[in-house]
Amino acid sequence: MTDRYAVIGNPIEQSKSPLIHTAFAQVTGQDIEYTKLWAPLEGFAAAVDAFRAMGGRGMNVTAPFKLDAFAYATDLAPSAQMAGAVNAMKFEDGKVYAENFDGVGLVRDLVHNLACALQGRRVLILGAGGATRGALLPLLAEQPGELVIVNRTVAKAVELAALAQQHQTSRVPVKGLGYDDVQGAFDVVLNASSSSLTAELPPLNAGVFAPGCLAYDLTYGKGLTPFLQLAQQAGVTRLADGVGMLAEQAAEAFAWWRGVRPNTAEVIQNLKVPWV
Ligand code: ATR
Repeated sequence: MTDRYAVIGNPIEQSKSPLIHTAFAQVTGQDIEYTKLWAPLEGFAAAVDAFRAMGGRGMNVTAPFKLDAFAYATDLAPSAQMAGAVNAMKFEDGKVYAENFDGVGLVRDLVHNLACALQGRRVLILGAGGATRGALLPLLAEQPGELVIVNRTVAKAVELAALAQQHQTSRVPVKGLGYDDVQGAFDVVLNASSSSLTAELPPLNAGVFAPGCLAYDLTYGKGLTPFLQLAQQAGVTRLADGVGMLAEQAAEAFAWWRGVRPNTAEVIQNLKVPWV
């Protein structure tokens, strides 16, 4: 019997998840149907209840429902607890298991697809919202030499740095700073702020990019964002957007649901949009 999955959001038309999971199902020979599910802003729980009642096995969750899913879950994985948000659910034996694969997807893209080992490296992450929160523990597990969180609202960066220090198992120094206080150059600069969604440039000094540095924007489908342009103008040649992260978090969810991890290379190639 065909097992049913969906991605839920509002809006939902833009979602690439059905395309990605259908491709994964084809290459792994899994018999699944994966659709888009729109829900009214106040109607998350009712829509998920209805999907489960029709035999739905699992869901991805996108904006603005990641916190609703956090509240709806019966069993939160540590990744979801740390991120404070849920991006994947599995329905089994009346339970709602919840995960957040965004951070692990990001790290997998960096380390495996882009061959950018993080161990001992200076890593700078822009933003102190949900995206950064979800990325912290997977980044720290790679044992960078230092992790600096920079944010316009400095208190939020300081708060997240303290949270990360408290939860990490290794002893990586983590700092939270304002843009004016960032010092030195970094080997990896990650834009996890939402600046690229509105085509804004974070107030970042171009001196943060070390020679040979990787500049990575977690946003996808926005072309060469102002952040990536800044990096390019500063001489950075290793530029990436979040397409690989999108595919890798999807692969993690697929493996969690189906017990088989698909290869992501073809999906990433198909989703890539030329930048110029
Ligand atoms: P998300 O869940 O996508 O992380 P969020 O929780 O709303 O979204 O957080 C957005 C983050 O992007 C915040 O850290 C925000 O900075 P402030 O806390 O100072 O508001 C950051 N951000 C948004 N627009 C930005 C811009 N133009 N430049 C720099 N940072 C920006």
